[in-house]
Amino acid sequence: MKNNPIGIFDSGVGGLSVWKEIIKLLPTESILYFADSGNCPYGNKTEDEIINLSKKIVDFFITKGVKLVVVACNTATAAAIDFLRSNYDIPFVGMEPAVKPAAVNTKKGIVGVLATEGTFNGRLFNNTTEKWASDIQIEIQVGKGFVELVENGELDSDKAKSIVEKVVRPMLDRGIDQLVLACTHYPFLCESIKSVSEESNIEIINPAPAVAKQVQNILEEQNRLTDEFNILYEFYTSGKIKTLKFLVNKILPNEKYLFQKMKL
Ligand code: DGL
Repeated sequence: MKNNPIGIFDSGVGGLSVWKEIIKLLPTESILYFADSGNCPYGNKTEDEIINLSKKIVDFFITKGVKLVVVACNTATAAAIDFLRSNYDIPFVGMEPAVKPAAVNTKKGIVGVLATEGTFNGRLFNNTTEKWASDIQIEIQVGKGFVELVENGELDSDKAKSIVEKVVRPMLDRGIDQLVLACTHYPFLCESIKSVSEESNIEIINPAPAVAKQVQNILEEQNRLTDEFNILYEFYTSGKIKTLKFLVNKILPNEKYLFQKMKL
């Protein structure tokens, strides 16, 4: 089991922002990545729809013998992780909106959170906010159009900047000094977010490094860290391969990968 791959999935290419941190921390682990770009976005789907799609992806991962699954999607974590944990024997690591570090770091007591509708409506976000930030002003905002930009590989075009500006400007005007990216697609728009918020001097918080650490901790505890060095990275998508390839090669160029289209 210890030399089996890790499975990572997202509604699309966004979870590659988590893959990026996992390969940094665990460079000898083999990883299978599933981008459900054919069904993206998940943000406005019902809980049942997301559970159903997540189940199909995990069933595919099980046929590949994965030893742990990372639900690299805040929306799918909110909707499906309880179901997955109670229906499969392998460990699952999900995304947690990084409200806690933002609440600790904020000087003004005003924190911005960007996420999808599904994440804001879920129990996880509301419980996390209540637990760690009950005395903090939380400014929430749906990143309208962000997921589509990233799925199209438009990260810092003029169009990307203007869509980002529309969403982020009102939060800056409300005085936030921390911005939590609670959707795995959003870190790919970091340059655009930075260019919009340049003068405001805000801190942008991406929870992906903490999620990678959590993966390492669980594998260590269960004695499932690999002792082999023949790393394998495979990428599957239910949508188009183009952006997936573009982002994978942007993160880790000059490697050989398997890219494959797959219907769910
Ligand atoms: N990447 C996703 C998330 O973290 C979902 C975006 C979407 O499909 O709406 O929430």
